[in-house]
Amino acid sequence: MVRMPARETASGLRAVARCDDLGVTPYSDADDHLFRPYLGAGHAATLDRIAAWMTEAGMTARVDAAGNIVGRYEGRHPDAPALLIGSHVDSVRDGGRYDGMLGVMLGIETVAWFAERGHRFPFAIEVIGFGDEEGSRFPVSMLTSRAVAGVLGDQDLALADAAGVGLAEALDGFGLELARFADAARHREDVLAYVEAHIEQGPVLEAEGHALGVVSAIAAQYRFRAVVTGVAGHAGTMAMRLRHDALAAAAEMVLAVERIGGAGPEDLVATVGRMEVGPGVPNVVPGAVTFSIDVRAGVGAVRDRAADEIRVALEDIAVRRAVGLDLTLQQDLPATPCDSGLSRLMAEAVRDVTGAEPRVLVSGAGHDAMVMAHLAPVAMLFLRCRGGISHHPAEAVEVDDVQAALEAMTAFVTRFEHTWSDAGTVLTEEER
Ligand code: GLV
Ligand code: MN
Ligand code: MN
Repeated sequence: MVRMPARETASGLRAVARCDDLGVTPYSDADDHLFRPYLGAGHAATLDRIAAWMTEAGMTARVDAAGNIVGRYEGRHPDAPALLIGSHVDSVRDGGRYDGMLGVMLGIETVAWFAERGHRFPFAIEVIGFGDEEGSRFPVSMLTSRAVAGVLGDQDLALADAAGVGLAEALDGFGLELARFADAARHREDVLAYVEAHIEQGPVLEAEGHALGVVSAIAAQYRFRAVVTGVAGHAGTMAMRLRHDALAAAAEMVLAVERIGGAGPEDLVATVGRMEVGPGVPNVVPGAVTFSIDVRAGVGAVRDRAADEIRVALEDIAVRRAVGLDLTLQQDLPATPCDSGLSRLMAEAVRDVTGAEPRVLVSGAGHDAMVMAHLAPVAMLFLRCRGGISHHPAEAVEVDDVQAALEAMTAFVTRFEHTWSDAGTVLTEEER
């Protein structure tokens, strides 16, 4: 773990040290592990700290209507449209310190690097730390980038967390209002592009000896909620042959999800990551089980086919075991190609730094970039992480890799500036 004084010049070391600082209470809602859900106390403390770092780097900082932290480094002229650099500040339960946060810290370092040199651009740069990418609190993910991209659905505003706290109440506790949530939306003409640096969260870069990679596309995702309804009863008196055990049925369903996920191409994955058992006591046959299903693939049609197979398999199990099954689609994120023109700039920036041809890869993990693509062209830079481990406290990065990422980000912004045209478009359609 890296610890260092806050006041240093822009560096990868400082980005890593700041992620480490934010990995414990009061920036986590748990005392013994990192858990920073959207709109929690850890989230609030984190935003205060990030706002101070943004200000120190030469930005004005604000929290938008959805709870995102936004730092703005003005261009040569006020009101210029902005290049957005961002990622997320929330974490999964018992998560790592760099998932999301490192991209936000690299955004701040990138601005600090130019500010230290007194360089202003013909556009503004904004660094954005999204409040909810993981969906750790409410049943869907990427609520806050969807607010910024202006693609919220009506049902998103009616969400409640596992403790029954509604989005309105959670926002109120954060000094925000549900009625204004959608005001976080940005106008297309104000946003030139969105760029995100993120740890790979997989093993490819490390295995192939690359510090950095360029993302060509982000895999399609579905999130479902399955509710299995059986019959609860006395665990001592209800004969086995008479049971409609919701948990035994759900267990069989989990194995079906695993089997179908494993039967396709390597990038097809299917996961049951959460389960609640009712009434959940040792001496009662389970009467109801709710569980999540996450299905992803690089190609939307592959994901869709697997989801259809899962539905059929689960319905068969429900019929055979005489239990009820209610399957609800909670989230559909289509596969998202990154912008080819911006990705070319990012590849050139990586080449500037490493001298090697960049590794180009598809992201199986979801990112705010897939939502921001509705608003503006997007590009992503990946950094190697140790063992490909992520969503786990053992998540780790090398400072040298983060320094290389900072240099690639500054090279990208420099190249972006050169590509900028007075007409206000970064790249023409033909260039994309
Ligand atoms: C977020 O990290 C996701 O890929 O679910
Ligand atoms: Mn994550
Ligand atoms: Mn992430």
